[in-house]
Amino acid sequence: MSTLEPLTETSEWQLLQAHVSAMQNVHLRELFANNPDRGHTMSMRAGDIYLDFSKNRLTPDILQLLLQLARARNVEGLRGAMFSGQKINTTENRAVLHTALRNLSGSAVLVDGEDVMPEILAVRSQMEQFAEAVRSGTWQGHTGKRIRHIVNIGIGGSDLGPVMVTEALKFYSQRDLYMHFVSNIDGSHIEETLRNLDPAETLCIIASKTFTTDETMTNAHTARSWLIEKLGDEAAIAKHFVAVSTNTEEVTKFGIDPANMFVFWDWVGGRYSLTSAIGLSIMLSVGPQLFRELLEGFETMDTHFRTAPLEENLPVILALIGIWNTNFLGASTEAILPYEQYLHRFPAYFQQGNMESNGKSVTKAGTQVDYNTGPIVWGEPGTNGQHAFYQLIHQGTRLIPCDFIGFAEPLNDPDGRGTHHRKLIANLLAQSHALAFGKTADEVRAEGVAEELVPHRVFEGNRPSNTLLLPRLTPNALGQLIAAYEHKIFVQGAIWDIDSFDQWGVELGKVLAKEIIGTLQDGDIDSYDSSTQALIHTWRSLQ
Ligand code: F6P
Repeated sequence: MSTLEPLTETSEWQLLQAHVSAMQNVHLRELFANNPDRGHTMSMRAGDIYLDFSKNRLTPDILQLLLQLARARNVEGLRGAMFSGQKINTTENRAVLHTALRNLSGSAVLVDGEDVMPEILAVRSQMEQFAEAVRSGTWQGHTGKRIRHIVNIGIGGSDLGPVMVTEALKFYSQRDLYMHFVSNIDGSHIEETLRNLDPAETLCIIASKTFTTDETMTNAHTARSWLIEKLGDEAAIAKHFVAVSTNTEEVTKFGIDPANMFVFWDWVGGRYSLTSAIGLSIMLSVGPQLFRELLEGFETMDTHFRTAPLEENLPVILALIGIWNTNFLGASTEAILPYEQYLHRFPAYFQQGNMESNGKSVTKAGTQVDYNTGPIVWGEPGTNGQHAFYQLIHQGTRLIPCDFIGFAEPLNDPDGRGTHHRKLIANLLAQSHALAFGKTADEVRAEGVAEELVPHRVFEGNRPSNTLLLPRLTPNALGQLIAAYEHKIFVQGAIWDIDSFDQWGVELGKVLAKEIIGTLQDGDIDSYDSSTQALIHTWRSLQ
């Protein structure tokens, strides 16, 4: 049970509040003019990440107050509690130990007095042997053919992490092994995925922490029927289906041999699970060695987060800037904008990561909060976003803090002269500059623009952004980046005093869907509200 003082009543919060009106009237142009070195002083490095946070509407004084707020909210204590396996997911009475999955140091991590590391290492070794066997062709399908297609069937955290990372690391993948991901219960998803696959060359991974998620189980049964029908033998399941889950009983009921099951544990949250066995598809795609390098990157950032003083702690700084934007400047959203095509699912991954973690409105003690919590997270890779939604970020009425992510070196250089990459990075830099500094009416007039068009051509600027620059998109760098965002979410949840590791908000819809399915076709629907009744009647009549 939380013993924290209500957030908005703390002196740290109130001191910050006192700075808001001053900052509302200050432009980033002035902040940079007053401190020409701001771009250097308001930046930091952690691992391979260079973070420039100078284009945010805050001052070093405000940052100090934010750091005091973090201390007052016991961020350091909670951080220690998480890493040491305490049950900080209080509403589910669970430890939160995704960091143990990337603990490569060999040191013990205890849950209920038991070291979880031996189990973690055993499962990873099982994954490695399996991945090597499939990648080398030693593992053969039921008819003796080599596996060419991997279909990961899962949803939410059992899908988004594997998709995001296999896409991010595609450059390093085994190119004759094709990765597919089925998540949606919409039959079109599985139909379109399986239609051109040869079942004799296909391996399905049923990835579900609970092994009861309706979408995943429905798709898994469809895939099972497809395979048995095409190969004409139920025994084929043994060579074409594996499971990743915490639920051995349900996996066995489904017909998968527990020998072909890769387990994980209740202290791994779905949206934090990609470094557990849920990452099997990733390991199949890039191989055990690069999977390990991914883990090394995670571990680098975990160690930084765990040990660096708050003022030098990159996830903490990212979190505090987010708190300032959300709770004091009134932003309700954040855009993640990777200038790296391989990271095209990174925003979607952290949409779940952030919104499912911090989309809460009561404190751990169950009290309604009187401040905003998690932002709406979204984004697309640059430069595509520029030609879609950046107009609103530049000239719309809303404040949309942006995170730009870029890499110094490209993975692909089609013309051998770096043309694509220089243009890509020039765009990243241009966007963060334009958002911060804008263009004044006088500057527009000086370009000879007709007076009636001047208001349309003005860029107000003063729109906050962070820029994260890394040397090159490697498995290690990706691990660091993901862990940095994970820990940012943790810090914000600690400050807001919410449980970032449960997800009760997704339950009601699941229960109602089960109820509705029973009556949708022809059952009695009188108990539903008039809107739902009318929709069901209309749906029936349109059938
Ligand atoms: O419905 C939300 C959720 O529980 C997510 O938190 C989770 O990632 C997803 O469903 C999938 O759950 P499972 O891995 O148990 O199928």
